[in-house]
Amino acid sequence: MGSLSLNKLIREPLKRGSSIDHLEYVDSTPIIGREYPTAKLKDVIQAPNADEQLRDLAITICERGVVFFRAPQDDLSIEEQKYITDMLGKLTGRPAEHGLHVHPLYNDPNNLPMADGTTDRNIYVINSEAAKKLYATMKNRPGSGDEPRDLGREWHSDSLFENCPSDFSFLRMQDTPPAGGDTLWVSGYELYDRLSPPFQKFLEGLTATCAQPVFESACKAGGYEVTSPRGSPLNVDYEFSPSHPVIRTHPVTGWKSVFAGVGLHVSRINDVYSYEDYMIRDYIMRLITRNHDCVARMHWTRGACAIWSNICTLHAATPDTHLVGGIRTGVRASGIGEKPYLDPASTGRREGLGLQRF
Ligand SMILES: [Fe+2]
Repeated sequence: MGSLSLNKLIREPLKRGSSIDHLEYVDSTPIIGREYPTAKLKDVIQAPNADEQLRDLAITICERGVVFFRAPQDDLSIEEQKYITDMLGKLTGRPAEHGLHVHPLYNDPNNLPMADGTTDRNIYVINSEAAKKLYATMKNRPGSGDEPRDLGREWHSDSLFENCPSDFSFLRMQDTPPAGGDTLWVSGYELYDRLSPPFQKFLEGLTATCAQPVFESACKAGGYEVTSPRGSPLNVDYEFSPSHPVIRTHPVTGWKSVFAGVGLHVSRINDVYSYEDYMIRDYIMRLITRNHDCVARMHWTRGACAIWSNICTLHAATPDTHLVGGIRTGVRASGIGEKPYLDPASTGRREGLGLQRF
């Protein structure tokens, strides 16, 4: 890295082709998100140029942060969902030895099965009822007493507790409540672009510890083995305490994004005093809440899908389905990307696209 000139990127950004230009779409907001109202992923993977289409879809996801497929995708098998998730990373330069993530607690006998009663190492079942029960067991959870909950704590990027976190995640919703249960994504690119240049430089010098000790205690209490490796030879055993850059370069677009600055899995900004740690994370949370034009919101309908890049977005579920009594269930697959890095030669998204600063 040291021998590279400052102008040369560690990885050359990928250029999107025109292979999915025939798919009807509407951008969710000017900044983040794209919705395909009619496209079927089954058609994409059965096309003669399937790899080309998946690669262009992957680059689109990395540019837009998240894409939604609105038409029900229930003709897609679990194997096909896994295949798509894996290929999005493989076709865009993820390390060859990396694949799909396996949840650390996959061996827990109480894990929820999929609708057909089976489980799959690479599929995480999301269920609003199970999440509610889990939260009820977490004593001292902020907001669990007589105050409204702070939903700011829902923001996260998937598998940040791994040395190599997730690149793409693909969530397919199978049951939807009569109202609520929305998921929100915020653009890490745009959060970076909303920082002043001196503050950008300051945050670029920081890393954060993303420790998740709960996995080791859960395995020991349950008397089962942690899964290992988990989608990469670098994600092994009880190594759940990586340091990640607060600002990360997206290897596919070459743009800088706020990455490990805030959220569920970020436990400590490194090397600063504890009040500074609090101040920095609180400030980044404030960036999210004061810039809701950087947020795309998905109101789920049965069979709809979202596929996102965890490198340039954070997302948050909305735990409000108890108000209407409905259950929300979905199946998620996630790929494992490279070890996060900040490339000093990279730029923000706006600079890269030649747009105004804000
Ligand atoms: Fe998530």
